[in-house]
Amino acid sequence: MHPRSAARRTALGAALLPVLAVLAAGCTAGRGGVVGTPGGAGLRDPYFPRLGNGGYDVTHYALDLELGSGGPSARLSGTAVITARATQDLSAFNLDLAGLEVRSVTVEGLPAAVNRAGTELTLRPDSEVADRLREGRTFRTVVRYGGSPRTVTDADGSEEGWLRTARGTVALGEPAGSMAWFPGNHHPSDKASYDIRITVPEGRSAVSNGELESRRTTGGRTTFHWRVREPMASHLATVAVGPYAVRSTVTGDGLPVVTAVDPGSAGASAAVLARIPEVVAWGEKRFGPYPFSSAGAIVGSPGDAGYALETQNRPFFPGPPDTGLLVHELAHQWFGNSVTPRSWRDMWLNEGFATYAEWLWSEDHGGPSVRESFGTAYADDANWAFPPSRPPGPADLSRPPVYGRGAMVVHRVRQEMDDDAAFFRLVRGWLKDHRHGNASTDDFTAYVEEKSGLDLTELWDTWLDGGSRPALG
Ligand code: TRP
Ligand code: ZN
Repeated sequence: MHPRSAARRTALGAALLPVLAVLAAGCTAGRGGVVGTPGGAGLRDPYFPRLGNGGYDVTHYALDLELGSGGPSARLSGTAVITARATQDLSAFNLDLAGLEVRSVTVEGLPAAVNRAGTELTLRPDSEVADRLREGRTFRTVVRYGGSPRTVTDADGSEEGWLRTARGTVALGEPAGSMAWFPGNHHPSDKASYDIRITVPEGRSAVSNGELESRRTTGGRTTFHWRVREPMASHLATVAVGPYAVRSTVTGDGLPVVTAVDPGSAGASAAVLARIPEVVAWGEKRFGPYPFSSAGAIVGSPGDAGYALETQNRPFFPGPPDTGLLVHELAHQWFGNSVTPRSWRDMWLNEGFATYAEWLWSEDHGGPSVRESFGTAYADDANWAFPPSRPPGPADLSRPPVYGRGAMVVHRVRQEMDDDAAFFRLVRGWLKDHRHGNASTDDFTAYVEEKSGLDLTELWDTWLDGGSRPALG
């Protein structure tokens, strides 16, 4: 461990202390003397302290969603079956849920007491089942809920949660929108597999993550069942409902590719979507095996959402993307979706690498070289507003330094290593070691120093953490 990294860890540790003190309050004794404590109401994320919950780890979500007729404002009724492992003896625990009414909750089959405050849902299981919520045990929570899902406005003014589109709805969850359509542990550090079933009026498509297991129509309603086998962070979950044209193909390697395209975007997106297999193959050459069991894209209309998002397996685009944006969102399947930030502070690991992937693609396909892209980013004042490792606040997570300066950090590592083959080996090793997991900035800097054998203190101090634009050597 390098001293610079150790210092960073200490600073983070200090930030956690006040919250830990709050969590220590409130022990309860269950029947038969079983003692547990409530799980935390947040995971102390540096940018969103109340996101997620402590005391358990979700392993699986089974979401059964039913959308009424009534178009974009249709009501949603849902059942969430949440399988989780207790990480402490639990007397109570929280789920995050924004809006929607809670109809009933059971934990291990018995009704639980429910308390709501803001987006925190506190569940107190029946004392009969206290033993089943001991540390290390797996327990099941069933939440029945419904209502009109809400749109959530981000700190930066963009919209997420449950959004109306030109011809339907789409659920987008970065960083906090997924709690608008299902209760859960909504922090990127708790990844799980999913079964998502959506019932919609016949004639509409409901497209989600993973692979389509079945599709059944009865009595004028169609149920789509999507299964996500690999771990997924909740902000990457999506459901898009509308008159999408859904097409399934397979790449030459046998990877299923599912695209869902709004009819108005069909003509203008056909050529770029046809390149998905090529982009995936290119990504595998650069970054190693594609991390999921299917790929694809969801293409809405210009004006939907206002931004693209790397929803797992199947990024969402508001209208036909250009190739650079397609490359960016597919690169996130490796950087962000398979290797997911430990906290929102580590966002630059997602965006820096996805931007660097665009630079690499460009160089490999007759566009500006990586060197030129680096030069352009370096010259752009917008990239120097703050260090990528320290966005000033939640409104700054998707600003240029996280992307452009993040990519410059990656390139500076490559320059210091001065051995392209070793650099790409390092990137592939990073992705392999953290595949389907979470990683922090400290994990990254320590990994780079360990594998390269270099002391990169100055690089981190200036390019990653420093306040101003360093001189080029
Ligand atoms: N991650 C998205 C991308 O790079 C952009 C984005 C959408 C975003 N919503 C956000 C970034 C919220 C940070 C916070 O394509
Ligand atoms: Zn991105």
